[in-house]
Amino acid sequence: MSDTPKFTPSRRQFLAGAAVATGAAATGKLVHAQAAGPDPLITELQPWQQYLGDGVDARPYGMPSQYEAHVVRRNVSWLTADSVSSVNFTPLHELDGIITPNGLCFERHHAGIAEIPPGEHRLMINGLVDNPLVFTMEDLMRFPRENRVYFLECAANTGMEWRGAQLNGVQFTHGMIHNVVYTGVPLRLLLEEAGVRGNAAWILPEGADASAMTRSIPLEKAMDDCLVAFKMNGEALRPEQGYPVRLVVPGWEGNMWVKWLRRIEVGDQPWHHREETSKYTDLLEHGSARRFTWEMDAKSVITNPSPQAPITHGPGPTVLTGVAWSGRGTIPRVDVTIDGGITWHQARMSGPSFDKSMHRFYYEFDWDGRPLLLQSRAHDSTGYVQPTKDQLRMVRGENSIYHNNGIQTWAVNENGEAENVEIG
Ligand code: MTE
Ligand code: CO
Repeated sequence: MSDTPKFTPSRRQFLAGAAVATGAAATGKLVHAQAAGPDPLITELQPWQQYLGDGVDARPYGMPSQYEAHVVRRNVSWLTADSVSSVNFTPLHELDGIITPNGLCFERHHAGIAEIPPGEHRLMINGLVDNPLVFTMEDLMRFPRENRVYFLECAANTGMEWRGAQLNGVQFTHGMIHNVVYTGVPLRLLLEEAGVRGNAAWILPEGADASAMTRSIPLEKAMDDCLVAFKMNGEALRPEQGYPVRLVVPGWEGNMWVKWLRRIEVGDQPWHHREETSKYTDLLEHGSARRFTWEMDAKSVITNPSPQAPITHGPGPTVLTGVAWSGRGTIPRVDVTIDGGITWHQARMSGPSFDKSMHRFYYEFDWDGRPLLLQSRAHDSTGYVQPTKDQLRMVRGENSIYHNNGIQTWAVNENGEAENVEIG
């Protein structure tokens, strides 16, 4: 089923390696020069061994180490005219496992971050219901809640890469995604409380931010697995993610996950608002457009090595890792190639496998120091296999932005530096 790591460095090797590490040969074993002399990092008393550190009162809300200050969301300034209707990107190459830390979840706003006092927030359900209702946050807390892990991917993720390789970093090509555990009330319970009328078929969630985001969602999905969520990774939603409450629409494009959720209208037809006509439609080669393409197709990407995470240790044992996800289920399998698709290897999946959640894969290999062409290919639980970019363009043409789930290629040179490329 999976490849196992090919080497287990001993404690002795680590100690020698700490002294003088010169990289490794292509033998599959870590190779270290003999220690030239005593290593002061081991033999000398270090500054941090000589002072009393901060006490328990110093950091009431903990932050990452000062040495991790480069691990941040980043934006691409030329992408949008201003930063309030814009996007920043999750630093995927700095993360591991499957959960995105709250402070690193990418943000996409159409009118900046709304700062809403929870006591003044109201959620209304109106339209084709027997009892139009208004919930306070306190009211919502009195419904049974659930905890589930889901990815949120913006449909525009990887959108800049449709016509060719563009942005040099996995953070920018694939970073419009995050994966957290949500705590929330099933939307079904709130709709049942309001009493959905017989002819109801759609809902229209609306945001309380200045953009008043709206999207039409089929009632069937709303009654199935949508959550009205107020916690992420155990703590309150961040303002960036829609505090105090957002809609969770598992497996479907991020645009539908309305933040700062203030109203849900129930209707018998879709509303055809801006975000489902002018935006989030896919113009095909013959001039017509795909519409209501809600589900996110299976996709994967290698996060390390990648342009922002080159191989710095030279030839020898190398850990390749990445993430995969599908809006239709789980990811039982990811294939990896390091030679541009001549040979494929089944990657090792590690970590929990949840429905419509991010999955983590690894492929450990012995780098011989020669250039590499890295690709990953996800298989989801429905049997769907991630397409190449050419296969995608064959069907969808070159006009699209959204729903680019094509296979990504990183070219690694002899120095371990990686670059975003396409291969024919
Ligand atoms: N909801 C509101 N109210 N306002 C917005 O601008 N942006 C949407 C969606 N919900 C948006 C919104 C888009 S396009 C995406 S991709 C996701 O929120 C982004 O969620 P995030 O900021 O938590 O990553
Ligand atoms: Co989006």
